[in-house]
Amino acid sequence: MSITLSLRGGDPARVATPLLAVGLHSGGVFPRVLAALDRAYGGVLSRAVRQGDFKGARDESLLIVGSGRGPARVLLVGLGESSDTYAVITRAATLAGRKGNSMGVRRMAFWAPQLSGDTVEAAAFGLSRGAWDFTDYKTQPAAKDRPKPLVEAVVIATNARGSQAALAAGIALGEGQRIARRLQQLPGNVCTPEHLARMARDIGKRHTLRVSVYGRRDLKRLKMESFLAVAAGTPQDPKLIVVEYRGGRRGEAPVALVGKGLCFDSGGISIKPAQGMEMMKYDMSGAAGVLGAMEAIARMKLTVNVVGLIGSTTNMPSGTSMNPGDVVTASNGTTIEILNTDAEGRLVLADVLAYSARFKPAAIIDAATLTGACVVALGNSATGVMGNDDALVDEVLLAARRGGEPGWPLPMWDEYKEMIKGDIADIKNIGGRGAGTITAALFLREFVPAGVPWVHLDIAGTAYSETDLVIIPKGPTGVPVRTFVEFVRGRAR
Ligand code: BES
Ligand code: MN
Ligand code: ZN
Repeated sequence: MSITLSLRGGDPARVATPLLAVGLHSGGVFPRVLAALDRAYGGVLSRAVRQGDFKGARDESLLIVGSGRGPARVLLVGLGESSDTYAVITRAATLAGRKGNSMGVRRMAFWAPQLSGDTVEAAAFGLSRGAWDFTDYKTQPAAKDRPKPLVEAVVIATNARGSQAALAAGIALGEGQRIARRLQQLPGNVCTPEHLARMARDIGKRHTLRVSVYGRRDLKRLKMESFLAVAAGTPQDPKLIVVEYRGGRRGEAPVALVGKGLCFDSGGISIKPAQGMEMMKYDMSGAAGVLGAMEAIARMKLTVNVVGLIGSTTNMPSGTSMNPGDVVTASNGTTIEILNTDAEGRLVLADVLAYSARFKPAAIIDAATLTGACVVALGNSATGVMGNDDALVDEVLLAARRGGEPGWPLPMWDEYKEMIKGDIADIKNIGGRGAGTITAALFLREFVPAGVPWVHLDIAGTAYSETDLVIIPKGPTGVPVRTFVEFVRGRAR
């Protein structure tokens, strides 16, 4: 279910709402502009701050039930000490949205000091993100005990009129991320390559984008032996999905966003251990990121041409699957020795990256849950960022930071390339024991069209969370939707 967001001005004391979330900084000072609200609450709000019951620390919250007019409840939410207002408001609004959603109030309002422009966007996005959940497969109890999700939220701003565009942007970002998280969370038997293609067509219809979908027969015609090797083990039709958004000048080179769309990765013949294998439904998170970003970019009408490219299939062992030792020729002519069938993402992306050449992109960014090694190196707090162009790497790192999805660079020195030199073919699909994230990226680099700046995002550690976090519940995070959108936005300015 989606959430309706709106904007208003005025004194929060006068907003009739079942729940008003109030963002407060740390430091023990109760803001004077909330005097009327404090009075309506008999002074307990300022007292809570004065007494230190509520310190305003990041992620802190305190619920206070009112007795009279105005907001029926106030949820104080800590903003902490950071000076990065956009990030602070995003986080607080997410927490507020999450609480509002679980409290069953249906509607809520959000106030923080001086919300206007950018911070209205942050609040709207945060509320939308916080309210996200996924209950499709939970049998609903009788109507009276049914959980009441948050369906409406109002942002109270100091400059409501002037912040409408910012609100729209926040909604766009929220909807884009919702699409991604939903696709991620759908199980592999529902979110198939066919399903991703359907979703792409859906987005295309909504925003009149050109969507092209290619199946196994087309991939054969395109000589995508590398992609097809991965798809050889599954009866499902693999899909190469292309979504074209034309928001820039006619003929202007597009930004290419490329996503790994493995709807399930069993490892194939090099099969994975049973423990945790269910997490490999998330192996299509890069593709989900591309689709979510296309939705947000189209909603925001960014003045840039963007082409989204997705390679989607599943990686299964079978009598028809690829085997260790197999050699294939990718569509760019490079021969690949497949030594481990579990290093399948790079095999799919090889042909998709090569295919992107026909769009003559100004830049390519790919996102893939590509290596467990990236989780070892960076954990769950940073995306691995590598590329063939330092300026583009920096541009993407900045975009990632703006979007609250931090990335960290890893080196791409030629020394590492030795590790994936083929014995009987040009290149092999695994390196040695070390530097697995880097050798995977170096493998991809071989398929990037000549002369095109390219950045690879390894989102294996950031696309989903295996534990419940303050801001994000266990499950999909929607990374890298924001990174993609912030990058394209940066190019639109
Ligand atoms: N999809 C996995 C990578 C992955 C691992 C993502 C853990 C998220 C969490 C990828 O296809 C894979 O299996 N990579 C192998 C590569 C290895 C065989 C060189 C890996 O990381 O073990
Ligand atoms: Mn794999
Ligand atoms: Zn994989």
